[in-house]
Amino acid sequence: MHPIRIAPSLLAADFTTLADEVRSVEAAGADWLHLDVMDGHFVPNLTFGPFITAAIDKCSTKPLDVHLMITDPWKYADPFLDAGADWLTFHIEVGDRGDVGGLLDHIRQRGRKAGLSVQPDTPVARLAPHLDKLDLVLVMSVFAGFGGQKFMPDVLSKVQELRRLGYRGEVSMDGGIGPATIAASAAAGTNVFVAGTAVFGAPDRAQRIAELRRLAAGAAAV
Ligand code: DX5
Ligand code: ZN
Repeated sequence: MHPIRIAPSLLAADFTTLADEVRSVEAAGADWLHLDVMDGHFVPNLTFGPFITAAIDKCSTKPLDVHLMITDPWKYADPFLDAGADWLTFHIEVGDRGDVGGLLDHIRQRGRKAGLSVQPDTPVARLAPHLDKLDLVLVMSVFAGFGGQKFMPDVLSKVQELRRLGYRGEVSMDGGIGPATIAASAAAGTNVFVAGTAVFGAPDRAQRIAELRRLAAGAAAV
């Protein structure tokens, strides 16, 4: 049983006051900081790279959960690890462009945690050859690219399927996670909850994180 982790996505933060936003969600009880890296190629959106990641690492005290929505994670893994990524996750959908297992090994050899993510329409069976090299599986509950999208409940069954495939590591879910959806995600077996809009858009971030944690704990215990 893995611990419940609330991982606010900085994609929903006010980047004009980024350091304050980081400190705000950390003080509000965030377990991890989720960094949504997008290259404008794998996904239509373009966000930030190692340079901003290093700046966030300077002003944060929590683990950086870096989600690479990029076409070439082989090229950029080391710059993000150098910048401070503690958990580094890339997408299996680019897997035919390089050595997936080799990159997962490399991330671990550098003392960090390795993850793979699947889009809503990608079967988790595609992860089967790599499960023994994974510390985290990130199940997308929206199509990667933008925050504030509607949760897609059809992906919930993927979590049980991962367990049936023998995966024993952590499971994260990302996209449309909030008070109305986190219980279903936790009940399915998720333990890491990426929430951008639900946290950064809340009038009281501490109260919202506590609410998310309570809802997840209540559902997981059932
Ligand atoms: C999609 C992003 C979003 C974001 C969370 O590529 O990964 O899922 O982090 O978005 P919301 O605002 O739905 O929590
Ligand atoms: Zn993400």
